[in-house]
Amino acid sequence: MKKALLIYGSPRKDGNTDILLKEIVRGIKDGDEKINVEEIYLRKLCIFPCRECRSCEVSGRCVVDDDMQKLYPKLKDADYIILGSPIFFYSVSAQTKALIDRAQALWARKYLLGQDKKKKEKRQGWFVAVGATKGKKLFEGSIFTLKYFFDALNISLAGELLIRGVDGKGEVLNYPEHLSRAYKLGKEMVS
Ligand SMILES: Cc1cc2nc3c(=O)[nH]c(=O)nc-3n(C[C@H](O)[C@H](O)[C@H](O)COP(=O)(O)O)c2cc1C
Repeated sequence: MKKALLIYGSPRKDGNTDILLKEIVRGIKDGDEKINVEEIYLRKLCIFPCRECRSCEVSGRCVVDDDMQKLYPKLKDADYIILGSPIFFYSVSAQTKALIDRAQALWARKYLLGQDKKKKEKRQGWFVAVGATKGKKLFEGSIFTLKYFFDALNISLAGELLIRGVDGKGEVLNYPEHLSRAYKLGKEMVS
């Protein structure tokens, strides 16, 4: 059975990112194919920032012994990775960025050590982001970050769900059109 890994990157419980990702989960579960869904809340994990010790460049492994060690195999194994984050200062949340930087070990395996280079067929990465403002460039930096994060995982950025103009806790519930986009994305992703 294929696996979908949803990564909740907001520090705020029951906030807009949580709500959107839950809609995606609902869509995935209503999809044509039966999918094993796993949901990871970064705010509940202890993931330290990258120390830049560069050990991974030699060993292909990260020396930092924290919850990220449980995530590496999941990131390598999932057929669908859906990463959601609020926009903080035109980037992803600190929790999300810590996870991304720790993927440097996977980048080193691929680009320095020549390991894990084979793409698994139809492995997909999706980015879900929500921000308070409405600027045209709101998501530009984060999309770039996600593109290269997924590349380190040997996975393509298949698409994004980008929501502007939503700020208050749970405010996205006032926009049924955003919720239905999230639900549809989940359903169509696996159909
Ligand atoms: C530290 C911080 C930085 C933020 N920076 C931005 C920003 O640069 N641009 C923006 O549009 N919204 C910004 N916001 C607003 C959040 O992106 C917005 O409230 C979002 O809906 C929060 O999603 P959540 O409920 O999933 O945490 C910021 C909020 C916080 C707390």
